[in-house]
Amino acid sequence: MLQQILRAPAFKAILIQLLAMPLMLLLVYGLARAGVSLSLLAVASVQGGLAAAITWRAGLARWWCAIGLLFAPALLGASMLDLPPALFLAAFVFLLSLYWSTFRTQVPFYPSGPKAWQAVAELISERPGVRLVDIGSGLGGLVLDLARRRPDGQFDGIELAPLPWLVSRVRALASGSRARFLRGDYEALDFGLYDVVFAYLSPAAMPALWRKAEAEMLSGSMLLSYEFKIAAREPDKTIAATAGGPLLYIWCF
Ligand SMILES: C[S@@+](CC[C@H](N)C(=O)[O-])C[C@H]1O[C@@H](n2cnc3c(N)ncnc32)[C@H](O)[C@@H]1O
Repeated sequence: MLQQILRAPAFKAILIQLLAMPLMLLLVYGLARAGVSLSLLAVASVQGGLAAAITWRAGLARWWCAIGLLFAPALLGASMLDLPPALFLAAFVFLLSLYWSTFRTQVPFYPSGPKAWQAVAELISERPGVRLVDIGSGLGGLVLDLARRRPDGQFDGIELAPLPWLVSRVRALASGSRARFLRGDYEALDFGLYDVVFAYLSPAAMPALWRKAEAEMLSGSMLLSYEFKIAAREPDKTIAATAGGPLLYIWCF
């Protein structure tokens, strides 16, 4: 876990800001000695420019350069708005409970939709008593939908972030669904307990997901990944769940 945190781009982005700061101070101090005094916005922009340059040199994805560039000016702008500190705290708590370990897992929350759920429902239609888990179940849409369609199956979701997990639990309770939602890391889940594992994660998560699936999934089971492919093995089947939208990839064991 510590290694995962140290390798996370978000952690590197913080280090880069810290590294850019003494360089920015040297530059601003040098300019001041030469008689050039900069406004606060210019100082923040110098910090952003240096952070963006270091980010680019460090080989992080392009959007991290934009984040590095805008971070200090945005911080300055936000502090000038003179908003009550409680508002920042509330926004922080909300975003934390929604995204939780995204800085480590590199898998943010964004939901799939009814067309993807329909494609999954069709795929499992000939598996009586199917046991399916959505790893990273978000607000629980897929699991609730399948549990409603298939009273003979077992439909579970596992979610790391507290807020989406809570929402899915409440939705299950409110609708009297048999769907089960666990809060935790799918890394600790035994994929061997399921006939079908559904994932809607991110490119960064796919290599480790494939290693886990290969090690744990039993003969006859299926791994489904919405939108993201696995480099190590071509899918056995690909379904266009939505016209022009993301594909659903299927690997059979
Ligand atoms: C792209 S969303 C997909 C949500 C849902 N599966 C859907 O189809 O609507 C990915 C979710 O995976 C969760 N997640 C990421 N890494 C996880 C992990 N290691 N264990 C459990 N959940 C994880 C995130 O918090 C996020 O809610």
